[in-house]
Amino acid sequence: LTDASLEREKTLAMVKPDGVLGNYTDEIKRVILESGFNIFKEKISQLDEEQTATFYAEHYSKSFFSSLIKYMTRSESSGEAMEDSVVSVDEKGGGGKGGLVSIGPVLVMVLEKENAVADWRALIGPTDARKAKNTHPHSIRAMCGLDSEKNCVHGSDSLQSAQREISFFFNEMSSG
Ligand code: PPS
Repeated sequence: LTDASLEREKTLAMVKPDGVLGNYTDEIKRVILESGFNIFKEKISQLDEEQTATFYAEHYSKSFFSSLIKYMTRSESSGEAMEDSVVSVDEKGGGGKGGLVSIGPVLVMVLEKENAVADWRALIGPTDARKAKNTHPHSIRAMCGLDSEKNCVHGSDSLQSAQREISFFFNEMSSG
């Protein structure tokens, strides 16, 4: 390994269900690449309630926890704002070859660059997308988020979280 590759920090980026179903994925990836990140790995995933609760375990005691779980795992029958969205998924046993189903998918990516954790957090802007539109108009959440729940994207908040979240999606969850 060269010194340069050793310095490349990794972080976990996620396009949340409102971002995927709102068709913001390509625009977000364009901003990611223009901002100097390398997309080291990526995959579409669908979290169930247990996986979401594990991923967001640190927020277990927050008032919004159950709402957050519902939003992240929203399915055909429970969707409101998202129920018109139809996504093509390539899923074993999930309704045939590339069948169309309405789900709450996420796109997870491992982003790589020097200072990736802090730089990705800066690029996405504040948690509340309404605030982002006022104070960080060029941030990703200002571009495609709505509020604190439907805020389009996630970013690891520390190096330690990044390591945990990357292994959560890319080591522990063997499929999906
Ligand atoms: S906190 O209280 O400061 O730790 O919370 P914060 O870091 O701002 O947000 C943590 C994640 O919880 C989501 N969140 C919410 N979901 C639903 N409803 C409400 N009101 C709400 N407020 C915050 C928020 O989108 C964060 O998700 P991630 O994926 O980590 O960005």
